[in-house]
Order: sequence, then structure tokens, then C-alpha cells
Amino acid sequence: MKHLVTIQDLSIHEIDDILKEAQKLALTSTPRESENILIANLFLEPSTRTRFSFEAAERNLGFHVLNVDEASSSMTKGETLYDTIRTLEEIGAEAVVIRHHQDRYFDELLGKISIPIINAGDGCGNHPTQSLLDMMTIQQEFIVTQGLNVVVAGDIRHSRVAASNAELLEKMGANVYYSGPREWIPEHCKKRYLTMDEACSTADVMMMLRIQHERHVDGMNMSKEEYHRRFGLTLDRECRMKRHSIIMHPAPVNRGVELADELVECSRSRIFKQMKNGVFVRMAVLNWALDRIKEESTYGIAA
Ligand code: CP
Repeated sequence: MKHLVTIQDLSIHEIDDILKEAQKLALTSTPRESENILIANLFLEPSTRTRFSFEAAERNLGFHVLNVDEASSSMTKGETLYDTIRTLEEIGAEAVVIRHHQDRYFDELLGKISIPIINAGDGCGNHPTQSLLDMMTIQQEFIVTQGLNVVVAGDIRHSRVAASNAELLEKMGANVYYSGPREWIPEHCKKRYLTMDEACSTADVMMMLRIQHERHVDGMNMSKEEYHRRFGLTLDRECRMKRHSIIMHPAPVNRGVELADELVECSRSRIFKQMKNGVFVRMAVLNWALDRIKEESTYGIAA
């Protein structure tokens, strides 16, 4: 069974195919041919971009969409995640898109669920479709394998986007650096640490992250203003970036904290482009997952 729960589920060949397909869909948005496919979306943590771009992707492909609302589902009566997904499978969903607050929620499902699970974000763990849409956005401007310097800056420790992006960027040949408060830089990232001033002169791509307050055990020990001054992309730092460098952010953005308000839609910013690319990447991922099921049933590969 081909799930997409982490970037490790994809070979370089499959990543290339998905990104090429997404680029093609950006030009055509072709629906699949008259297939009566039902996709379930199960978002157990708030989301704007991922949730609605998956739904837009599903509708663009001509699929029927089942949005499971946690508050009115039997999860409120204690039904397990496994039983909920088995139910969705039995009532006809051919894939399930899941966002969950718990790291690696999918471990208890793999090997037991016979429809593809597409991970729309797990706790501090993974966000593979965000990484693919970020890669699509980068590839629209740069050749990643030619020594591209990407700085991921901010709350690295609590960010699933940082983890998945670093994995994908390194797999594709980019140089990944980290910046932000040292207490939020995991041990294995410390040897690639840059101050924000160093980051500005190094980055071809400056990938800013929100402070993930909802995943912090202790509160933040500095004001938003101090954070912006010490670790944010300020107007002054932006002036010192290389001429061709771009700014990215998975959003939502806390304007004026990690990124100056004026930079959110400046000429270097690709933040809204990332969101647009998200629809095409998610269309390509859904096609990839459904095609793998077809191959399995055609060639009899065991799930
Ligand atoms: N980038 C991202 O995952 O945004 P949402 O939380 O709004 O889906």
C-alpha cells in the first residue's frame, strides 16, 4: 500500500514525477476520466491552506469529497482513530487525508488500513505535501542541485515543515542551514547554524517559520518585538539579502514577528505562490496514490 506519511515514502523518481505532474496540472487542471471516486478529509487540528487546497484539488479532479467534522463525529464518544478510518474505508472512501496533533499518529494505522493515507501534518513530525509544494515553488526559479543555499529560520524544533523540508531539500541536493533561537535548534542541526545576519548573506531561499506556540510546553521568554529584532526577517536584513534571493513561509504568518509585515507581499516573497502551487501538488499526490492502488489491483501486488 502506498501511503504518503513522510518524505521517506517517495523515491527521487517519484518526487520528480509528482512535481512534473503538478507543473502540468498548473497549466491544465485536468480532471480524471469519469471516475466515481470518494476521498475523505479528516482534519483533527486547525488548518486553512492544507484543508482547503486538498478540497480544491479533489474537486478539480472531479472527486466526491467527504469532510469529516470531528465535533459531530463519534470520535467525541471515544471512537478510536483506527475505527473511524476503517469506517470511512467501508463506506467507500478510496483515500483519506489526515491532519492530527499527535506526532506519527499514522504508526498505529500502517499495515491495517487498505486505502492510502495522505498525511496533511502530524504534530511536530512531518508535512510531506507542504515540502512538495515548497519544492515546486523553488524549482520554478532555481536548479536545486546546483549548490542552492536554503536557510530555514525560526522555531525549528516544533516545526513539522522544517523537518520534512530539510529531508526533501537534502534528498534533492540543496545545502540546508538553520537559524533562530538556539534552544529551538535540534542537536543534529547545530553544525549548520547561522545567525540571522549570516543567514541573509547566505540564503538563496529564506524559509521563515511561525513560532509554534500551540506545541510549546513553556511560554516564550521574550516579547514579540524582541523576537523580531533578534531572529526575524526585518526590513533592514531584507536589504542585505542577495539580489536574486526569495522569501518563503508555509503560513499562517505572524506579521511583524518572524517577518516584517511589509515583506509578506514584497517582490521577493513567494508566500501566496506557495499556496497556489499547493493545489496542483495535492492534485498530483492524489493521482499518484490512486494510480498506485490501480497498479496493485492490476498486477496483484499485495497491500
Ligand atoms: N501551511 C499550512 O499547513 O497551513 P495550514 O495550517 O493553514 O494548513
